[in-house]
Amino acid sequence: CGIVGYTGFQDAYDIVINGLRRLEYRGYDSAGIVLEGPDNKLEVEKTKGKVDDLVNISKDLKGKFNIGMGHTRWATHGVPSDRNSHPHLSNNGKIAIVHNGIIENYDTIKTMLTEKGYTFKSETDTEVLVNLIQYFMELNPEIDFPTAVRYALNEVYGAYAITVLHEDYPGVLVVGRLGSPLAIGIGDKEYFIASDASPFVEFTKEAIYLEEGHMATISLENGVDIRTINDNSKIEPEIQQLKLSLEQIEKGGYEHFMLKEIFEQPKSIHDTMRGRLLVEEGVIKMAGIWDHVERFKNANRIIIIACGTSWHAGLIGEYLIEEYARIPVEVEYASEFRYRNPIITDKDVVIAISQSGETADTMAALKLAKEKGAFIYGICNVVDSSIARITDAGSYTHAGPEIGVASTKAFTAQLTILTLIAFKLGKHNGNLGNADFMSLIAELDAIPKRVEEVLSSTHEQIQQIAKDFVSTSNFLYLGRGYNYPAALEGALKLKEISYIHAEGYPAAEMKHGPIALIDENMPIVIIAPKKGHYDKIVSNVQEIKARKGKIIAVVNKGDRQVSEMADYVIEIPETSECFSPIVASVPLQLLAYYIAVYRGANVDQPRNLAKSVTVE
Ligand code: G6P
Repeated sequence: CGIVGYTGFQDAYDIVINGLRRLEYRGYDSAGIVLEGPDNKLEVEKTKGKVDDLVNISKDLKGKFNIGMGHTRWATHGVPSDRNSHPHLSNNGKIAIVHNGIIENYDTIKTMLTEKGYTFKSETDTEVLVNLIQYFMELNPEIDFPTAVRYALNEVYGAYAITVLHEDYPGVLVVGRLGSPLAIGIGDKEYFIASDASPFVEFTKEAIYLEEGHMATISLENGVDIRTINDNSKIEPEIQQLKLSLEQIEKGGYEHFMLKEIFEQPKSIHDTMRGRLLVEEGVIKMAGIWDHVERFKNANRIIIIACGTSWHAGLIGEYLIEEYARIPVEVEYASEFRYRNPIITDKDVVIAISQSGETADTMAALKLAKEKGAFIYGICNVVDSSIARITDAGSYTHAGPEIGVASTKAFTAQLTILTLIAFKLGKHNGNLGNADFMSLIAELDAIPKRVEEVLSSTHEQIQQIAKDFVSTSNFLYLGRGYNYPAALEGALKLKEISYIHAEGYPAAEMKHGPIALIDENMPIVIIAPKKGHYDKIVSNVQEIKARKGKIIAVVNKGDRQVSEMADYVIEIPETSECFSPIVASVPLQLLAYYIAVYRGANVDQPRNLAKSVTVE
C-alpha cells in the first residue's frame, strides 16, 4: 500500500493525488483521500479501483485545502471495496487514518471495542486501530491526540506505517512506523509524508526516514517532533539529502515503465559495476565484502534468502558462488526459512536479496539470522531501505528506481552484484586463478554491450512471436545449470503480467512430469546457449519435438542443432555460461511484456500484485 500526506501552502488535493499516482505501483485495488477544511471538518472520498477512479468522484475537492492525506491499497484484510478502502474514520467521525501493513491482534481489540459499543463498517484491521485511538482519548480525557495514538500503537502488534488526522487538532498530522517504510519530506513551510520519497522529490530534497518503532507529530507551527512509540523519548531527526530525480521516476517516452526498465538494463548493469569493476587494474572493489572478507572466507556456508524474482537471482548466486568461490551456498524462500526453525550459527553468512529492501518476510528472516549470530549482508536496490539498514554490511544494486511491478532491471543488477561477489571471493580465497579472473572480468565488463545487442536484435522479432501466443493458456520454460533459474524467472514474468499459466523447470526434470503436458498446443521456451550442457539440451529438445510441442529456442548466434528443430529461434550473443542468465533473460522479459500488452493487460500494475510486499 502507499501513503501520502501533506501540510503547507499548496493545494493538498493535487499533492496527494499526484503522490498516490507515483505510489500506485505499491498497491492499486482501491484509493482514498481525506482533507481538512478551514472549518476543521474532514472531507473523505474513497473508492474501489485506481487513483483515476478516485479522481472521478473527488474532483470537487481540488483547490480548497492545504492539509490532507491519501492511500492506495493492496488488500490484506477485507476484499477490495469502497467500504474497505482507506481512509477509515473513528466512530465519532473525528479521527481519520490511513494505514499500510497488518495489525495482527486486531481481532482481540475488535472484540474488546465491540463490547464497549463500538461498531465497524469495514472488515479491515485499520478501522480497529482508529477506534482504539478514539477509545484511549475517551478513557483518558487529559491526554492529547498524539499521546492517544501512541497508547494505541503500544497495544497493537504487526506491521504498520500510519498517518492520522484529528478534527479537534487542526493542522496536526501524526505518523508512526513499525515494519513499513515512511518518509517525511521537509520543505520550506511545508511537510510531506510518503511511503517512499517519489511523491515529493520535485518539491524538496530533504527527508527524514522514520525509524522502526518511532512516531512523529508534524505541524507547520511546531515542525517535526519524533518520539519512540514505547516510551515517548525524544529523538533528534536525521535529515538526509535525496538523490532521486524526477526524471528517474517518469516514463521517458516509453509506453510502460516495464519497457523503459527493460531497455535501461545496459545502463543499470553498468551502473551496478561502476567503481567496483576495475578491469585494467584487475580488481573488484567492494567495500562491503572486503571489510568482512574473513567472515566470508571462514563461513561454514552462505545462506541466501529472498522472495520472488530476488529468490531467482539467489539461485543463480548459488551457482556462481559455489563455482567460483567454492563456499557452500543454500538458497531459501524467506517465508519458509523464518518459520521452520532453521539451524543457523555464528559461522554462517546470510545474504538477503531484495529490490525494495522492505519485503516483510525477508526482513523477518534476516532478523532471525541476526539473533542467531549470523553475519547478515544485504543486496538491495533502494538506498536506506529497512533491510539495507539492519544488515551488518551490503552492496547496493545501482539500478535506479524500478516502478514496473514485474522486476526486470533489478534482477539483472542483482545478478551483476552476485557475479562480482563470487569473483571477488574466488580470487581472494585462491579458487579463481588470476588468468581466469582476468578473462572473466573483461567479459563481465562487456555484458552491458551484449545486453544492448540483444535488445536491438530481438526487439522487433519478439513482437512478432508474441502475436502468435496471445490466446495461449499455458507455457513451459526450460533451462539447465545457470539457466534453470533463468527459466523460472522467464515463467514468473509471463504469469505475473499476462496471467498465462507458466511453469519453469530444469530441462532434464521435464521427463519426470511436465512432459505429460506436451502436445501441439504447448509452447516451450528453451534456453540453450552453446556453453552449458548444450548436448544434453539437444536431447531434451528432441524429446519435446517428438511430442509436437511448439519450441521457442533461445540460442547463440550461428546455432544449428537446436535451431533446426525449433519453431521460433531467438539469437543471443555467446558468453561464458555464468553470464548467460543475464543475456538470456532480456528476450524473455520482452516476450512476457509483449504477450501481456497484446492481451490488453495492465503491464505495470498487474492484478493482485504489489511491488513491495510489506505484509507476511
Ligand atoms: C513482490 C514483487 C516481486 C518481487 C518480490 C520480492 O512479489 O511483485 O517483483 O520479486 O516482491 O521483492 P523484493 O523487493 O524483496 O525484491
